[in-house]
Amino acid sequence: MPEKVNILLVGGGGREHAIATAISRSPRVGDLWLTHPDNPGLARLGRSVDVPVSAREIYRLQQFCDHKKIGLVVVGPEEPLAEGFANKLASPTRVVFGPVSDAARLEADKAWAKQVMRSASIPTGDSRTFTDFTAAKSYVESREEAPVIKAAGLAKGKGVIVAATKEEAIVALERIMVQKVFGDAGRTVVVEERLEGPEVSVLAIVDGRNILVLPPCQDHKRLGDQDTGPNTGGMGAFCPSTTLTAEMMQTVEREILVPTIDGLRRDGIEYRGVLYAGLMLTPAGPKVLEFNVRFGDPECQPLMARLKSDIVELMMATCAGKLDQIDVEWSEQPACCVVLAAKGYPDKPRAGDIITGLDQAEKLPGVTIFHAGTKRGEKGQIVTSGGRVLGVTALGVDLSDARRRAYEAADLIQFDGKVMRRDIGAGV
Ligand code: AMP
Ligand code: GLY
Repeated sequence: MPEKVNILLVGGGGREHAIATAISRSPRVGDLWLTHPDNPGLARLGRSVDVPVSAREIYRLQQFCDHKKIGLVVVGPEEPLAEGFANKLASPTRVVFGPVSDAARLEADKAWAKQVMRSASIPTGDSRTFTDFTAAKSYVESREEAPVIKAAGLAKGKGVIVAATKEEAIVALERIMVQKVFGDAGRTVVVEERLEGPEVSVLAIVDGRNILVLPPCQDHKRLGDQDTGPNTGGMGAFCPSTTLTAEMMQTVEREILVPTIDGLRRDGIEYRGVLYAGLMLTPAGPKVLEFNVRFGDPECQPLMARLKSDIVELMMATCAGKLDQIDVEWSEQPACCVVLAAKGYPDKPRAGDIITGLDQAEKLPGVTIFHAGTKRGEKGQIVTSGGRVLGVTALGVDLSDARRRAYEAADLIQFDGKVMRRDIGAGV
């Protein structure tokens, strides 16, 4: 019998439901504890932490972990990683899957990430960093093309404005730097050259030394079909993406992932956890749009649907610096995840709409439904409670089969104001 380990999972969205589902399949899982049991999908899989979950009172969570003999903490979202959950929850008897705060800065501080990329000669768009609105405005005015404006800090996926005109770019600067719509996250702004090309997400698991590149995924960021409408956290994803050839994957590993990890190590920062490179495949080769320090959401959902190996083994090996000693197996079948979002997403999602059809949809072959923004209503029914509500994920013999199954399930699920794209995984 493999040794069991008690696990604490931090986070409560679709990504964490997908991770928890994979953890539950492991013969190694002992007790699974959850920080966000309000998510009814997650609640089915574990027990609820009964202390506050915050960086300020982290000692409460430390005590909880000691008391419950937690051996592995898995941190899903970027905020707790940036706040140092990985530093503070690790102990001589407990490992944490997720980078320490100095490494999580790769996502939490886009200006710093640009510096890391520059000093390691990693391909990325040209950019400049500003803390002064007037200087940023003059720079935008002096350019020929409209640039992309990025709040340097964490802004819940809303801090990037791909401006169509220079005027629009200046309005974005004003909103971020003068009106401070993202608060401190907009104290520093990155003004970046606009790149063109298809986008892919390459995620890797890193144990400090070894890098395990995961099959590439493609996310659909815009709200509307054919990539129209505002940027969102992601309206659906599929895996594997065939846009990146095996040769390009090797280039990404050699020219982007390895130098990033090496560059951090030279600065005394050891990276452990998921490193996610958001890439644009430009005519001059793949360039980094952003780094994330966690699984993507929704990318995690098709990835977890395809993962055949034991994720607890994988995470423990990562934390022990022994990734080179394990084999990771993926299903031959592609997976497609269609996000169902609430009315008003991404600006002002409406909560409280009753969701029906989940049981029926879940029974379809190959289909798994991950809960993202749902909760139990007063009468026990499942209602919407966030922007992205569900990630309807299906495996299929090929991508078009996976798509068909995901949409068949998605169509069975109803709630007022349901928003979904019809073209996830189409035309690729
Ligand atoms: P990020 O959060 O940095 O990935 O940005 C969100 C989205 O904005 C990306 O997925 C791209 O679609 C777009 N984007 C970011 N940077 C650029 C860029 N330099 N050129 C064109 N589009 C970009
Ligand atoms: N799907 C994009 C992200 O997780 O940032």
